[in-house]
Amino acid sequence: MGNTSSLVHSLIAQRRTVRTYADTPIPDAVLDRVVSSALEAPSAFNLQLRDVVVVTDPALRQALTDSSGQPQFAAAPAVLVFVGRSELWPEDAEEILGAKADYVRNYKQQQTEQQRVKAAIIDATLAAGTALIAAQAEGLVTNPTTGWDEHAIKDIIGLGDRKDRSVAVIVAMGYPDPAAPVPAHPGRQADRRVSNSYAK
Ligand SMILES: Cc1cc2nc3c(=O)[nH]c(=O)nc-3n(C[C@H](O)[C@H](O)[C@H](O)COP(=O)(O)O)c2cc1C
Repeated sequence: MGNTSSLVHSLIAQRRTVRTYADTPIPDAVLDRVVSSALEAPSAFNLQLRDVVVVTDPALRQALTDSSGQPQFAAAPAVLVFVGRSELWPEDAEEILGAKADYVRNYKQQQTEQQRVKAAIIDATLAAGTALIAAQAEGLVTNPTTGWDEHAIKDIIGLGDRKDRSVAVIVAMGYPDPAAPVPAHPGRQADRRVSNSYAK
């Protein structure tokens, strides 16, 4: 295994969900690298039907905690809210797609709203997963979450009751608290790998 591949695999293996953080701000350049890497994640047709809302404002982070009962949002210096975009046709689609726009529009227009929301949440979730690894590479620790009320979160981040936006994943992120023990690996089941087919 080459140096790069072993580094990437060990970052992935060492990532743990961490819910307490050092009282250290994340420098803008570090935050920018994590968010840029998250936005490098692939998306269906490259339509990038997701946004990352970078919440550093302490009052907003406290509101995220108050609405969800999850203290890690107020405790973390930065919280990333991954939002799926499920509008019928994004206004920048032609700019992104060029000559492929007609083909993709035809495809998207045949989708139900439920299918569009699902596609947007998949795009947003891939970006969130990429952010976890990018953060790990920066020496940050993270806590991905889905335990919150979506309406309350949309209100806090200024989306109100917009139907064409969905909150997929919220990630709390900060430097590890030196006084807190590193969480043990919680274990993984060996039977989640399936060879070729479930049918025997
Ligand atoms: C989709 C998803 C939702 C999660 N939601 C929460 C949550 O609401 N609150 C929380 O404290 N942890 C949450 N977690 C963290 C998991 O509990 C944690 O990832 C899991 O126990 C495995 O531990 P590890 O991340 O250290 O490997 C979530 C993780 C994922 C992937």
